[in-house]
Amino acid sequence: MELSLQGKNALVGGASAGIGRAVAQELALLGANVILLARTESALQSAVAALPAVAGQTHRYCVADYSDTAALRTQVEALLQDVGAIHILVNNTGGPPGGPIAAAESAAFLQAYNNHLLCNHLLAQLLLPGMQAAAYGRIINIISTSVKEPLDGLGVSNTTRWAVAAWAKTLANEVGRFGVTVNNVLPGYTETARLQEIIAKRAAGAGQSEAEIAESFKQHVPLRRFARPEEVAAAAAFLASPAAAYINGINLPVDGGRTKSL
Ligand SMILES: NC(=O)c1ccc[n+]([C@@H]2O[C@H](COP(=O)([O-])OP(=O)(O)OC[C@H]3O[C@@H](n4cnc5c(N)ncnc54)[C@H](OP(=O)(O)O)[C@@H]3O)[C@@H](O)[C@H]2O)c1
Repeated sequence: MELSLQGKNALVGGASAGIGRAVAQELALLGANVILLARTESALQSAVAALPAVAGQTHRYCVADYSDTAALRTQVEALLQDVGAIHILVNNTGGPPGGPIAAAESAAFLQAYNNHLLCNHLLAQLLLPGMQAAAYGRIINIISTSVKEPLDGLGVSNTTRWAVAAWAKTLANEVGRFGVTVNNVLPGYTETARLQEIIAKRAAGAGQSEAEIAESFKQHVPLRRFARPEEVAAAAAFLASPAAAYINGINLPVDGGRTKSL
């Protein structure tokens, strides 16, 4: 099985922490040159410093905010001038705030749509020419199992993820012929700051302890535990590899079996 990413450049969003950081790590372990993107420079610096360079790769970071698409465009255009083609794009950023959908403000939908769908689209448009020229492209979107079963208390997120999944499937149909695949990884409960925030909010609302809420979440998972970020990242790294060349347009849950649908 060909897993090596030697000679490939990868751009990973939301890579200063959580799942994105773990994806950057796994891609580096497979030999890719990785560019980590997020807002916090100090966190990016330590994430880059911790990346392995098993095949003499060069890693770097880009400080950018998905809320500012014009600046993001300029920064990624500059990156492309510098590195040439980027073969692997991992679309990932912080999740939208939780809460019941009936109480959600329009602004929250617009923000989530911008940071998730529109940024994914912008980055894909910028990177696709290089992927096509190299006849190797992997676009991997980290979204959520909510594309299969909407999750309670995450109304804005549920709605936005479906848009991303529909966008990804449509793009997969268009660009497959150029050697570019587009797939979604759907994390279940994964031990990151995002999950901690959701548990804390749920605990405050229910008048229960965070430990009780965490335990109740685990009861929905056949494996009875949360994922480690690297377990989600391993799926993304496999999809990025040559071995996954014929996997296109899928939603891959990495959720310990929590999703009930087939
Ligand atoms: N953890 C879970 O249980 C779980 C389950 C299902 C789905 N997901 C989804 O998976 C994705 C990643 O989750 P996670 O748990 O890894 O989240 P996380 O630990 O909160 O990490 C989010 C990352 O995104 C960056 N980020 C946030 N806002 C940004 C912005 N406006 N522009 C650029 N970068 C930004 C953060 O860095 P800076 O703050 O430095 O920018 C950080 O690197 C999210 O969409 C989340 O909803 C997570």
